[in-house]
Amino acid sequence: MHLNRYERTWMIFGVALLVVFLATITTAAIVDGFVPQSHIQSIDPTKVSQTPPFDKPGLRKIADGSYELYYVAHIFSFDPKHVVVPLGSHVTFYVTSEDVEHGFSIPETSINTMVTPGWVSSLSYTFRKPGKFLLVCNEYCGAEHQLMAADIEVK
Ligand code: CUA
Repeated sequence: MHLNRYERTWMIFGVALLVVFLATITTAAIVDGFVPQSHIQSIDPTKVSQTPPFDKPGLRKIADGSYELYYVAHIFSFDPKHVVVPLGSHVTFYVTSEDVEHGFSIPETSINTMVTPGWVSSLSYTFRKPGKFLLVCNEYCGAEHQLMAADIEVK
């Protein structure tokens, strides 16, 4: 088969880029130990309700303006359902699932992660705008997935 010189050059370039990308991901995962937000800390999914601090999910103050917020996701709700957070707070979220894969997303913010049974997802956000934020599951998790929501009130 005859290939034009430019065509061959671009094919080699494309394959070389793929090799570089794969090598970068592999190095980050194996050598540097990079993992997704949803795979940082493990937990026994059958014992979530007995494992502190997930036995009492909710907001914990750790310093002035700094909070930890623990959530348990299950079909088809989040626990807690309603949380009030002071304006300007820096909140670190910890989320886990007792049953299936869920999503954890607050539109209009950078909060968006998968919630995988057996793992604790963790991410942080500073609430600089007052109002009611909707928290939704954005991974299809079953027949009533669309009803799986909660809210965070910032005031
Ligand atoms: Cu939980 Cu969709």
